Amino acid sequence: MSFAVAIDGPAAAGKGTISRAVAAHFGFAHLDTGLLYRAVAHAVLHGADPVEAARTLNAKVLENADLRRPDVAQAASKVAVIAEVRAALVDFQRAFARRAAGAVLDGRDIGTVICPDAGAKLYVTASAEVRARRRYDELIGRGIETAYEQVLDDVRGRDARDMERAEAPLRPAEDAVIIDTSEMSVEAAVAAAIAAIEARVSVARP
Ligand code: CDP
Repeated sequence: MSFAVAIDGPAAAGKGTISRAVAAHFGFAHLDTGLLYRAVAHAVLHGADPVEAARTLNAKVLENADLRRPDVAQAASKVAVIAEVRAALVDFQRAFARRAAGAVLDGRDIGTVICPDAGAKLYVTASAEVRARRRYDELIGRGIETAYEQVLDDVRGRDARDMERAEAPLRPAEDAVIIDTSEMSVEAAVAAAIAAIEARVSVARP
């Protein structure tokens, strides 16, 4: 029986770190669904049509380090409002979620739209200031020069677009466990996530 974990939340809330740790802990495969939207945005920044880019997406491009750039993140949240782009990416995500070995998917609409029947759902969040600080440190660590205020502006802009769009807006699923990591260490956030999932895994596999 497959078991899917849905991890949603706003930009730079720590979903990636938590998802990777959870996947390693349970031996599940991990898909960062934000990379799909970033890959479409990257193609659009190079002149492609967004819907065409989403329909012809090749998983190999997900390894491109350029997808992590801040301009690509902003562009990703713009292509992510297009219903046809989202629709073109559904099958890939659902097929990944059905892996027999178990799967962790992180994004914005995993618990609400992609995997409404996920075995466990988490909504990972933190204040905009804390998220901007983490993303700023990460960008500086990767040698990308930027200013904290710029990163905070970007995070707020993306939050607004992701939460206010008509199609699959960012919001916690009704049955999601909410983890606010504003004042949590990485270790504490990972432990809270694993405990929440553990409880659901033991329901599914008594
Ligand atoms: O890593 P970070 O949280 O900054 O962003 P991301 O997860 O890579 O997502 C980039 C953008 O893709 C988001 O701002 C969303 O607009 C969009 N996205 C989405 O609409 N649905 C998803 N399941 C994942 C990402």
